[in-house]
Amino acid sequence: MPCDDLLAEARKVRERAYAPFSRFRVGAAARSADGRIFSACNVESSSYGLSICAERAAVAKAVSEGCRKLVEIAIVADTERPCPPCGACRQLIYELGPDARVVMANLQGDVKVAQIADLLPGAFTAEYMRREPERDEEA
Ligand code: THU
Repeated sequence: MPCDDLLAEARKVRERAYAPFSRFRVGAAARSADGRIFSACNVESSSYGLSICAERAAVAKAVSEGCRKLVEIAIVADTERPCPPCGACRQLIYELGPDARVVMANLQGDVKVAQIADLLPGAFTAEYMRREPERDEEA
């Protein structure tokens, strides 16, 4: 498969997951439009709500390195069925790659592929925030 390299990176970085609380390790690898790969694992906190998903960490790495366009992202976890991205991650993936392919996988090698636009129909985008500036109310 053309995404084998991405899956291999996601599987590799998953080993570095810091998930002592959930014990659920996730690896993600994003490919930018210029062909670079950014991989990351989930990073948890003893203050549980601060935990960062692997996908969002990978997107943050890409943006930090100057990449604003993602074409593909792979996600790997030890799940029965290929692991899908959570809702928050879908939003951020869509933001940087509205046409991105999402490759979901588990450790047994089951793979499922979808477009992010199909995983997040009716996505909120910055377009919705564009409106005329409010005029001062007339006295
Ligand atoms: N997790 C991810 O890394 N990606 C997802 O899309 C779903 C959940 C992580 C967050 C947390 O560290 C652990 O999996 C359990 O929710």
